[in-house]
Amino acid sequence: MYPELKDKVVIITGASTGLGKAMAIRFGKEKSKIVINYFKKDDPAVEGIIQQINELGGDAIAVQGDVTKEQDVKKLVQEAVSKFGRLDVMINNAGMENEVPSEDLTLDDWNKVIATNLTGAFLGCREAIDYMIANDIKGSVINMSSVHEMIPWPHFVHYAASKGGIKLMSETLALEFAPKGIRVNSIGPGAIDTPINAEKFADPKLKAGVEELIPMGYIGKPEQIAAAAAWLASDEASYVTGITLFADGGMTKYPGFQAGRG
Ligand code: BGC
Repeated sequence: MYPELKDKVVIITGASTGLGKAMAIRFGKEKSKIVINYFKKDDPAVEGIIQQINELGGDAIAVQGDVTKEQDVKKLVQEAVSKFGRLDVMINNAGMENEVPSEDLTLDDWNKVIATNLTGAFLGCREAIDYMIANDIKGSVINMSSVHEMIPWPHFVHYAASKGGIKLMSETLALEFAPKGIRVNSIGPGAIDTPINAEKFADPKLKAGVEELIPMGYIGKPEQIAAAAAWLASDEASYVTGITLFADGGMTKYPGFQAGRG
């Protein structure tokens, strides 16, 4: 736990489920003030998350919005400031993926994934950084990347391209805004037990196939990613910018080369 995160204002996109929800609850434990962005209108999950955060001693509001729409992203920052008075931490987490052999991938599917995962994150970075500069806030921006910012992923070319884009976008912004004291980092989760993976992990054969790719031998928990986000937002990471913090059980470390196999 990081006492300095108490009362910090944190926006998390795509926070009604999965990693976003886990991060919202973690920042609730830190007693932060959280703006929960969610996409699906009237998402019934949102109320429960707000209640949980309140019980933990944090505070939260929910703001519906589509991260691919400039106006919606601007509104997120405006709502954070009008309700909580400032913005300290921006977490661009909203994302999607679907499996399609690349020769069949439609332009529509390509555009949707790039718009949500990459353009949406860019808009979040831009709006948050613009506010932080204007208000002299040495904030922390965190982008949700993936092990697939470095590991190629057949049938997910749009997803892998979006995460590769996140990597250089984050690094470029880190360099650009370091003089202002604004830190920009990414988190690179491996295979985590979230709804996006539920179908895959419900099949024992598919699950075992994924586990083989993880040197630590097990699928990660959303809380293990939320812990990385809390650290990157905290003062303990005050000299850290431009990194991707892989929380992947070693997946990016060439598991095929584990002892006896190289
Ligand atoms: C994807 C998961 C996948 C994991 C490892 C993540 O970025 O969202 O679906 O299991 O990478 O391949």
